[in-house]
Amino acid sequence: MKNLLITVFALSVACVTAPAQSQATNAGSTPAVPAAPGATGPGPAKAVATPASPKSLEAKTAMCFGCHNIKGYQASFPEVYKVPMIAGQNARYIAAALNAYKTGDRRHPTMRSIAESLTEQDIADIAAFYENLGKEERKPAGEKPNREPEAQVAGLLQKANCASCHGANLSKPIDPSYPKIAGQHTDYLFQALKSYKTTDNHAVGRNNGIMGAIAKQFSTAELKAIAQYVGSLDGEVATVPESRFKH
Ligand code: HEC
Ligand code: HEC
Repeated sequence: MKNLLITVFALSVACVTAPAQSQATNAGSTPAVPAAPGATGPGPAKAVATPASPKSLEAKTAMCFGCHNIKGYQASFPEVYKVPMIAGQNARYIAAALNAYKTGDRRHPTMRSIAESLTEQDIADIAAFYENLGKEERKPAGEKPNREPEAQVAGLLQKANCASCHGANLSKPIDPSYPKIAGQHTDYLFQALKSYKTTDNHAVGRNNGIMGAIAKQFSTAELKAIAQYVGSLDGEVATVPESRFKH
């Protein structure tokens, strides 16, 4: 666990960011000592001094915060883009994605080594945590997208019928193992869409029967136009900074 955290921090230092300062601060500080079990429960829990269990939810999620809970945090591999927003995402999709990094169907090296360190139970707990994170502050997405695409993009979305799986406003997937994509970072969406076309590289790309077949129908320029529209929508996924929730 400790070695993994060191690896993760070494990797996160290798990431670039805006604002650089908040990232530097974060990279330098090891995750806070996980709270004792029950520390968030009722009563004078802060006084409980039992040693923290390494299996606590805090311990499991501590290694995610340095990237997924910092607004604007950017990854630099294979190119610079913002790390995906995962708060508010479907738990079953989060679990499916983590399992895909674990098996290598998704080949992003940092996320692979992180996912490989997680047990099935860890994945279930972490996925439930992120699905609920920030729920109180979130405005549920409406039934319709808050803006219409230009004619060219409308045609592209229709060609692959994105809404038939990702939902009427691309934020209400028909199956909980499918992702909400509306409002996700544009540069990440573009990166993700391109990655479904890359199946022959050991460090880059994603194997997915459904999205592979879809992404391959489009040129890179078309995927970029799609990502720009989808990223401009109001959605339910968010980055919730660590200072905004209690452990
Ligand atoms: C060093 C930065 C970093 C850390 C630490 C990190 N991630 Fe990630 N995460 C990323 C990047 C970058 C991606 C996008 C990878 C890709 O292109 O597939 C990603 C992708 C994901 C995805 C897929 C999201 C989607 O929309 O498909 C999930 C889920 C995820 N991470 C969960 C976690 C969890 C849970 C942890 C902690 C146990 C964690 N990550 C730690 C950088 C990080
Ligand atoms: C037949 C169902 C289906 C259709 C149609 C479909 N998708 Fe998907 N999409 C999925 C599934 C399932 C996944 C999860 C794949 C995975 O686990 O990597 C996904 C993943 C994605 C992702 C990655 C999200 C992330 O957070 O990493 C993006 C972006 C995406 N789809 C965009 C689109 C767009 C744009 C269209 C239309 C051009 C489309 N999809 C059409 C089922 C579908």
